Formats: sequence, structure tokens, C-alpha cells
Amino acid sequence: MIRILVLAVTALVVKSEEEVMRNLTTVTWAHAVNNKTYLDAALASDICMLEADIVLGTIIGKEGPPIPVMAHPPATSSDLSLADFLSTVAKYNNVNSKQKGVKLDFKSIEAYEKSQELIAQYSKPQITFPLWLNADILPGPVDSTTKPVDPVKFLELGAKHPRAVLSVGWTTNYGGSITEGEYSGEQIGTMLRMINEHRINQTVTFPVRAGLAANSQPVILDLLRETSSLNCSMTVWSSEGDHVEVNRLRALILTVGLERTYLDVPQDLAAKLHLPPPDAKKN
Ligand SMILES: *[C@@H]1O[C@H](CO)[C@@H](O)[C@H](O)[C@H]1NC(C)=O
Ligand SMILES: *[C@@H]1O[C@H](CO)[C@@H](O)[C@H](O)[C@H]1NC(C)=O
Ligand SMILES: *[C@@H]1O[C@H](CO)[C@@H](O)[C@H](O)[C@H]1NC(C)=O
Ligand SMILES: *[C@@H]1O[C@H](CO)[C@@H](O)[C@H](O)[C@H]1NC(C)=O
Repeated sequence: MIRILVLAVTALVVKSEEEVMRNLTTVTWAHAVNNKTYLDAALASDICMLEADIVLGTIIGKEGPPIPVMAHPPATSSDLSLADFLSTVAKYNNVNSKQKGVKLDFKSIEAYEKSQELIAQYSKPQITFPLWLNADILPGPVDSTTKPVDPVKFLELGAKHPRAVLSVGWTTNYGGSITEGEYSGEQIGTMLRMINEHRINQTVTFPVRAGLAANSQPVILDLLRETSSLNCSMTVWSSEGDHVEVNRLRALILTVGLERTYLDVPQDLAAKLHLPPPDAKKN
């Protein structure tokens, strides 16, 4: 009896993984998993991907040279180091059939450089949980003045971890009173040139901000077409309260395809998209 039940559950998990590949919008996200309490809660939940931020800083109450710790600027200290974050996730994944993935959002090139040995340890072929390396490497809309993470160093070092998914995007200046904008052909073209010049040959995803992406369908389609040999995808994200033309975003997602779109947006926006169910035809 118990055996039958276990088999049935296993079959369900395998099937759902196949389904996930066909519909990446089913992947769920936890954000800013930057402390021990929240990491434990996220591991205990159904969430698929743990997004977390890395800065160079210190562990609260400890002294010493700066190390990669889980924190979002302007914070520079945490109760969780990157080393402990990764080992905790790996330990969880060793004993659970449904693995949690991680999206490591590097806030500076220095934090990324100092994390290389750790990343290498978890990008070995025998480790199988999803490992994403993310950074905003280029200046983006609307005239964003946030300093991007050095694109050349980020890509050169990223290529040394072929198992890792490179998640590379643009800084953005959107939301609040800024409700209009788009990714320009030049911004998209610079990304393409970077990917080509560095002979990137591993899975890539491009994080794009929903409100801006909705207005940028032609250039985003160009980007994904030109990088299709890299098993590329887009990751649509949004901040709470961003203005988004929902119908245009829906059109973009359905044109790109659910099999090439990760969706990391607030619940209410996701609900408004009314994505078609599995048995429905497109649109
Ligand atoms: C831990 O992280 C979560 C998610 O970022 C946050 O809501 C919470 O306030 C943090 N707790 C502490 C003690 O920093
Ligand atoms: C890209 O990587 C794959 C497998 O890792 C390899 O077969 C292929 O030759 C590589 N292509 C280039 C252009 O390096
Ligand atoms: C394509 O990329 C996804 C992650 O975006 C990964 O899970 C999948 O295994 C990749 N497939 C191939 C054939 O590389
Ligand atoms: C894809 O996933 C979304 C979110 O889970 C769901 O609403 C939608 O019905 C799914 N569509 C298909 C075609 O699988």
C-alpha cells in the first residue's frame, strides 16, 4: 500500500518536471533570501527558486576581512554568508527529491570575484540543482544611472562555470512617477555583442522588467532569436506598483512562449495575465 503510494508520488514529480520545462512560468520564486530564518522558511516551502543578494561584508558580531555575505545594499552585514547559504541549500537538495534552485544576485563585481571558488564548488557536474548567476551588467532604461556590474569580468568569469545559467540584464530606472519606457535597440544590441564577443556557450536568461519589456517586443524577440543556440529565455520581473500594460505583456509572453519565459512578478500582475491553461490553444 505504502509502496504504491510512493510510486504514485514519484510519477507525479517526474511528470511535473516535464511540465515545468514546457511552462517555465510555473517556476515559483522567493526573494531576498538573505538571512538564516528566511532561508529555513523558504526551504520548508513549495518555492522552486531562491533568489538572494550577495555583497562583500561581514557576519553580524564577527570581525575580519570582508567576505561574500547575503545582503541587499545598503546593508553590508548578515547572519548568513554565501558559503553557509550554498551549503545549506546543497544539504537540503541531497536528501530531497524535489530540488531547490538558487539565483545569486551579485551586487558588485568585487563580491562576484571573491565568490568564484565557492561558485566553482557548486557548479561541478555532479551537483545538479539549478545555479543561476545574476547581475545587471549594462545600463538600461529609463536612462538609469545605477552603476552596472562590470560586464566583461562578469561574463569572463561566468564562462568558467558552464553548468551555471548566466542571468544577465540591465539596470533600470522605472516605477513611481516613471510609467513609460522601453529597452532600446542599442541596449539590446550591446548585450548581444557582449554575449558574442565573450563566446558565451551556456544557458543564458535575460531578466527584463515587465513594464518596460511590454513596450519592447520587437527588440526582445531579436535578442532571443539571435541567442537561441544558447537555450535562452527571458525572466520577466516586476517591482510592486510598477505600471505595466498588461495586454502588451501578455502578447510578449505568448509570442516568446511559455517554454522560454520565467515569470517573477507580484501575484496580482501574474493573475491579470490570464495565461492560457495547458489544454488551450495559443491566445
Ligand atoms: C529575513 O529576510 C526576510 C526576507 O528578505 C525579511 O523579510 C526579514 O525581515 C529578514 N529578517 C531579519 C531578521 O533580517
Ligand atoms: C559549446 O559547448 C558544447 C557542450 O558543452 C560543445 O559541444 C560545443 O562544441 C561548444 N561550442 C563552442 C562554439 O565552443
Ligand atoms: C535549458 O535551460 C534551462 C534553464 O533555463 C535548464 O533547466 C535546461 O536543462 C536547459 N536545457 C538544455 C538542453 O540545456
Ligand atoms: C502555465 O503556468 C501558469 C502559471 O502556473 C498557468 O496559469 C497556466 O495555465 C499554464 N499554462 C500552460 C499552457 O501550461
